[in-house]
Amino acid sequence: MKGIVLAGGSGTRLHPMTLAASKQLLPVYDKPMVYYPLSTLMLAGIRDILLISTPEDLPQFRRLLGSGARFGVRFDYAEQPKPEGIAQAFLIGRDWIGGDACALALGDNLIHGDHLSATLRIAASRPVGATVFAYEVRDPERYGVVSFDADGRAVDIVEKPAVPASNWAVTGLYFYDARVSEIAGTIRPSARGELEITDLNRVYLEAHTLRVEKLSRGCAWLDAGTPDSLLQAATFVQTIQSRTGMLVGCPEEVAFRMGFIDAETLRQHAAGLGKTELGRVLGELAVGEHD
Ligand code: G1P
Repeated sequence: MKGIVLAGGSGTRLHPMTLAASKQLLPVYDKPMVYYPLSTLMLAGIRDILLISTPEDLPQFRRLLGSGARFGVRFDYAEQPKPEGIAQAFLIGRDWIGGDACALALGDNLIHGDHLSATLRIAASRPVGATVFAYEVRDPERYGVVSFDADGRAVDIVEKPAVPASNWAVTGLYFYDARVSEIAGTIRPSARGELEITDLNRVYLEAHTLRVEKLSRGCAWLDAGTPDSLLQAATFVQTIQSRTGMLVGCPEEVAFRMGFIDAETLRQHAAGLGKTELGRVLGELAVGEHD
């Protein structure tokens, strides 16, 4: 399975912070925002990753992420000239995907929690259909909202409904089978002129091939698209890391734990991070001080 990180858009809800910088490169505590969704894809075992961003911002992502060798993965890059919707990622990436199954992680989404790697690997290994994740929130109207019938089966998904049918938001992490680009090619722009990811998911739902996994209470899902949610995400990462000494959303750590890089490579990256706390924790991990 391949994976796409979508880091486009104009970040209007974060103006003026995003007037001269990509939203997904803003810091979430001690790392650039894009590190978090990247770590999520890597935790699913994905090593072929396409980063999609605007023509203006793409050079900065290349500078930050390079070939991917640092994380034991391979990065490719593609432009989304205009913000014409999340589902457009599968049209931009069609040739790159080349008939494989493909996951998509939105560049401003952070997921952390219990047994996440196992949950993600199961989603990545399903050969047919799509898997999305639902998370109970207080403000569902900001998101795609999924409703369930009495047996817990997903019956509908609506994008940013004025009157939400449930509190279950669809997170920005999606796993699709090999038909995804073909299906994305059949959907039409919404009233706001975008190819909606919710419309793509509805095609799978109507074909009874959409699996909606409820994320457990042991998981945290945060997006960082507004000043408040950006601050909350940063505080969350700081709290977990300083309390436990473990890292959240660190691709070098995930690469090491997944066996994508060895201890010596990790040690070198840790040294390269100089006197930062991140460098210190990664250095300890490389010599086996964390399990
Ligand atoms: C997008 C999707 C929405 C999803 C959300 C998750 O919304 O359209 O369905 O719930 O991401 O972060 P956006 O953040 O682009 O408004």
